[in-house]
Amino acid sequence: MTDKPVALVSGANAGIGFEVARGLTTHGFTVLVGSRDAARGAESAARIGNDAHPVQLDVTDEASITAAADRMRTDFGRLDVLVNNAGVSFVGDPSTPLQERGAMGLLTVVPLETVREIFETNVFGVIALTQAMLPLLRKSPEARIVNVGSSGGSLTLNSDPANPHRAMFGVYPTSKAALHAVTVGFAATLESEGIRVNAADPGFTSTALNNFQGTKSVEDGARRIVELALLGPDGPSGTFSSDEGPVPW
Ligand SMILES: NC(=O)c1ccc[n+]([C@@H]2O[C@H](COP(=O)([O-])OP(=O)(O)OC[C@H]3O[C@@H](n4cnc5c(N)ncnc54)[C@H](OP(=O)(O)O)[C@@H]3O)[C@@H](O)[C@H]2O)c1
Repeated sequence: MTDKPVALVSGANAGIGFEVARGLTTHGFTVLVGSRDAARGAESAARIGNDAHPVQLDVTDEASITAAADRMRTDFGRLDVLVNNAGVSFVGDPSTPLQERGAMGLLTVVPLETVREIFETNVFGVIALTQAMLPLLRKSPEARIVNVGSSGGSLTLNSDPANPHRAMFGVYPTSKAALHAVTVGFAATLESEGIRVNAADPGFTSTALNNFQGTKSVEDGARRIVELALLGPDGPSGTFSSDEGPVPW
């Protein structure tokens, strides 16, 4: 049991999630570093310091989610912030160049199996993990959920014929658009309970997700996510924003 606020970050062994986990420890949180590979999670938690603890967590695996929820309850006794950060953009050889990954993900050609795999992590995994953590979140006086979305999945931006990127609106952006809908759904349903649910767009950040082609650092990519995780009691819910301001759904 701990007196400090507790946060769980999925996919925190690398990239933006690691930086979010580290950032939250500097704000006084005990942070659970979710990692589907237990050894990588342990190594990442050790790099962050004493306030970080590894937890094996594959958001597509019901048994893994249940075990993580049990561990949260028995070892920490509380959960104040859930960051649904784990995500995949591509299924296949990780050395595939970014442009080619995008072309392979277009809805006209992408295998349905790949669609299912990406939705399993980016959408269904978020619903499953959130549902599993709700009993603990409900006990927190200031529960917050942050979903890591993407402006690339913005229906508004991609409906604009002048947007040059819209030709690449394939399976990954589609999954993020679904995640945005999930965010609105949870926010509306949990509003009466005072649980704030928001989506953050990290921006094009240099991580394995894009073969490290992103133009932002992980520190910059994590900033808005951490801010939303720290919202006070009067903070908003059901919003979508980046560190530059609101992002259209
Ligand atoms: N980078 C960008 O430009 C950008 C832009 C917009 C949104 N985002 C979003 O930011 C989030 C973090 O991505 P990132 O850029 O930091 O990429 P990353 O470095 O590839 O990190 C993704 C993390 O998700 C984990 N993960 C994947 N599938 C999982 C599963 N089934 N269960 C649990 N964890 C799983 C990965 O674990 P492994 O290490 O085991 O693979 C890794 O820890 C994602 O939701 C992504 O869509 C990124």
